[in-house]
Amino acid sequence: MSVIYMDNAATSWPKPAETMAAINHYNDMIGGSPGRSGHRLSVDAGRCVIDAREALAELFGISNPLRIVFTGNATEALNIAIFGFLAAGDHVITSGMEHNSVMRPLRALEQQGVDVTVIPCSPRGEIDPGDVEKAIGAATRAIYLTHASNVTGTIMPIADVGAIAREKGIMFCVDAAQSAGAVPLDVEDMKIDFLAFTGHKSLFGPQGTGGFYVADGFAKNIRPIMMGGTGSRSESEEHPDFLPDKFEPGTVNGIGIAGLGAGVRFILDRGVDHIRNHEMGLTDMLILGLGEIPGVVVHGGRDARRQTTAVSFSIETVSPAAIALILDEEYQIMSRPGLQCAPAAHRTIGTFPVGTVRLSPGYFTSEDDIGRALSAIAAIAGRIVRL
Ligand code: ALA
Repeated sequence: MSVIYMDNAATSWPKPAETMAAINHYNDMIGGSPGRSGHRLSVDAGRCVIDAREALAELFGISNPLRIVFTGNATEALNIAIFGFLAAGDHVITSGMEHNSVMRPLRALEQQGVDVTVIPCSPRGEIDPGDVEKAIGAATRAIYLTHASNVTGTIMPIADVGAIAREKGIMFCVDAAQSAGAVPLDVEDMKIDFLAFTGHKSLFGPQGTGGFYVADGFAKNIRPIMMGGTGSRSESEEHPDFLPDKFEPGTVNGIGIAGLGAGVRFILDRGVDHIRNHEMGLTDMLILGLGEIPGVVVHGGRDARRQTTAVSFSIETVSPAAIALILDEEYQIMSRPGLQCAPAAHRTIGTFPVGTVRLSPGYFTSEDDIGRALSAIAAIAGRIVRL
């Protein structure tokens, strides 16, 4: 029996054939250092990076692709938005549904005098934009908010919070690790000043790719957290302050970015709405099916229209790790158990410290896969209920 991969919230798999073809082409035919040497293979490599920037700009509604910076992952992008922007005495706002990629840097800065307000969310994982507005004070410099929870999939009211932040002149940073490519995103419409994304989830790129968009008004106020060679202004020992070089020291992951660019083109060719509709159908089937199994509790909003494909569930007294192990070993179903690096979110939804089992179908998941997963979980729950 073939493997059923339902861990797309951790990393998407399989990747589109286009992603792998671009990676292989880069490896076989290009191989030079992007933006460095000037020979034809270096120029071709640079062209792959430019193509990927342009594809991402089209996907996110960004008029100038040079405002997109490549990093190794969303965590690195968020670290730049946090450590590069804040200083002692600043106040920042975040939510009770954040991943540790936001919470850990913020908690570290709290030790150095940054005041952090965590807006509580409902047990379904939802935030009230009015609570964000009320928390804003004279020292508030930024709002860091996930676009979609990696635990419950809950999609946050980004445009509403963006409007509030824009009116107050506060930097609005969105963690789009779970949403980019899967949920419509437009940085202008949503008034996003900093958008952190990962390449290896719904953008269908390989692991080790990611990046961010930063708006004109904020880029100059963010310090790079690394400096070095950029292939530009090589006569100077001062790090450049223009984009993207300011935040892209060292050789970028050219081969990975080539794959990422192909992944984003795959999305643009089909349309985010098409992908979203397909994934909403699968999520709906999963939520409804799980809800009908005695002994299974589904967490979050349980509404496919208001979440990504990430669906967290529990089976009464059984540990999530044990359920995930049975799913893997007996049914060839890949899930992610535990706290999914988001203890704050689990405190919010009442599943800390045990966590949940998370299933996250993807674009390549079929209805048959969902059916097989539901049968497997019904069989596991049936065993427990009979014990
Ligand atoms: N943050 C990723 C997840 O939720 C790795 O699994």
